Amino acid sequence: MDAFVYREESGSRVLHAEGVSLPAIAAQFGTPTYCYANGVLVARYQALAQATPNARICYAVKANDTLAVIRTFARLGAGADIISGGELHGALRAGVAPDRLVFAGPGKTRDEMNLALASGVGQFNVESPAELEALDAAARAAGTRAPVALRVNPDVDAETHDKIATGRRGDKFGIDDADIPALYARAAALEGIEPLGLAVHIGSQLSRLAPFEAAFERLVALVEGLRAAGHPVTRINLGGGLGVRYRDEAPPDVEAYGALVERVRQRLGVTVVIEPGRWLVAPAGVLLTRVIAVKQAGARCWAIVDAAMNDLMRPALYDAWHAIEPVAEPAPDDVTVETDVAGPVCESGDVLGRGRALPPLAAGDLLAVRDVGAYGSVMASTYNGRPLPAEVMVRGDALASIRPRQDHEALLARDLVPPWLG
Ligand code: LLP
Repeated sequence: MDAFVYREESGSRVLHAEGVSLPAIAAQFGTPTYCYANGVLVARYQALAQATPNARICYAVKANDTLAVIRTFARLGAGADIISGGELHGALRAGVAPDRLVFAGPGKTRDEMNLALASGVGQFNVESPAELEALDAAARAAGTRAPVALRVNPDVDAETHDKIATGRRGDKFGIDDADIPALYARAAALEGIEPLGLAVHIGSQLSRLAPFEAAFERLVALVEGLRAAGHPVTRINLGGGLGVRYRDEAPPDVEAYGALVERVRQRLGVTVVIEPGRWLVAPAGVLLTRVIAVKQAGARCWAIVDAAMNDLMRPALYDAWHAIEPVAEPAPDDVTVETDVAGPVCESGDVLGRGRALPPLAAGDLLAVRDVGAYGSVMASTYNGRPLPAEVMVRGDALASIRPRQDHEALLARDLVPPWLG
């Protein structure tokens, strides 16, 4: 389902988000603005839920932490995968039931553990012996038991960008599989720990099923070993990672992924948790931006736009490719110009897309950067004194602000000048 299509609006054809035109959004909220289509979020959640009918979907909040997005999934029955006290707070505020929260990540502070224990978080993914001991101490001090899955490092290459692969031996994540049996026995002996099972997450934007299969096989073998040693393993957490198509990738379809998850579940007879982020939200968002200036520099044509690497870091950080579309529909016989689309930030890396075939652009034109619902606004910063962008959501003809644009005062409101500086 694509909610971002050209439709007629007062005599011309322009990109819409569901029933709302992007020029109307730009007029009301300015640019740059992240715009999310609620219908896409709902349709994708339902497709995933249908493909994995026996799995608990815990939406990975790190992909998009707006309360409106989390709440969209919570209302459909999702739990949440959280990575920090901040995300815990957000997931609870958005209405996720505490027992449907999975607290993942390689470093939880004592304060975060205490907060999660007090909130009744349903599962902690533990990534080291030291963390297990610390969580045990925190739980005993709080007079409770922490439900735990040990995160395995299965030494599987996810075949994705180096910076988002997490399941290889040299990566900082998880516990070497050889160490799992002894640590599980330790967990079972600790008064403050209630061992539930194992977890794995080997990376993000996976475009083949084979690495998932290899990782899940390791997990199955480990669970069988734990059971043979007398541990009743009741839960496995298969992580997130399912990729989307940004350009020409051909990720497995959700049905094939779902069938794999179901096979693993049936073999072990356990509760299965999955933590998808990107697949649910990436295609549901665009970043709406306006051309500030166009310049020709030698053979290159540059369009300098008002969105930059601080708003969308993925191109600068991972060389990620996002489609960039003109908001006004070009006529079929219009010429195109190879255009480099860049932001105003003072770094040569601040390029959103190189060599894009776009109609001749002029200052004031609007562009939409596609598939930015995941890892877009969450990674934004205020670098170069740039306020955080506005975020809006549409549903049908309804349009709502879900995060107003930061203003210059709000940027400065964090700062204090020591009295001795006068
Ligand atoms: N579970 C764990 C433990 C994770 O670390 C992640 C993502 C997920 C689930 C969700 O994975 P997903 O389904 O979204 O692939 N900023 C990068 C992506 C970082 C992913 C971090 N962990 C990007 O823009 O590509």
